[in-house]
Amino acid sequence: MKKIIIAAVAKNNVIGKDGIMPWHSKEDLKHFKETTMGFPLIMGRKTFFSMGGKPLKGRLNIILTRDKNFENPHEDVMVFASIKEAYDYCENQNYEKVFVTGGGEIYKHEINNVDELLISEMKVEAEGDTFFPQIDEKIWQVAEEIVYSEFTLKIYRKRN
Ligand SMILES: NC(=O)c1ccc[n+]([C@@H]2O[C@H](COP(=O)([O-])OP(=O)(O)OC[C@H]3O[C@@H](n4cnc5c(N)ncnc54)[C@H](OP(=O)(O)O)[C@@H]3O)[C@@H](O)[C@H]2O)c1
Repeated sequence: MKKIIIAAVAKNNVIGKDGIMPWHSKEDLKHFKETTMGFPLIMGRKTFFSMGGKPLKGRLNIILTRDKNFENPHEDVMVFASIKEAYDYCENQNYEKVFVTGGGEIYKHEINNVDELLISEMKVEAEGDTFFPQIDEKIWQVAEEIVYSEFTLKIYRKRN
């Protein structure tokens, strides 16, 4: 099962401000939806609630929390206490791929554990309080670049 980080990142590495994304890009949301449709999304508890507390349709939404008393907020959502448990579940369900969809804490934890990074490099700088972790160029290289009007999609794969 391929594990993929998908993120939209400002020029200055910002990904969030006050619990939400600091820009609204329909073009990036379309790319996110088309890319992830049908596959599980693994996200931190804060990111789930930043989307209004409702799951994104057509995809299994998995929330990560260490809170043992956390009540599942929605019947279509699964909750796990560790990323490994979430991956194991998806693997057992025979998913071909799974998307790690943030936020900052989850990206930081997983950046070098996944197989691919799909980074929408937004063409703006943004004020914010949450950042994408440093991409280590000794580990990762840009394998493909696709230019959109509001961002450039950079696909990173691991160096051999
Ligand atoms: N630009 C983008 O592409 C993008 C994508 C996603 C999110 N965001 C932004 O990122 C911000 C949220 O990021 P964040 O770093 O504050 O929070 P987050 O990563 O979404 O969630 C953090 C929470 O996840 C749980 N968690 C973290 N690591 C865990 C682990 N190893 N095992 C189990 N649970 C774990 C904990 O929940 P408990 O406290 O309940 O234990 C923790 O408080 C928002 O501003 C959002 O808009 C941006």
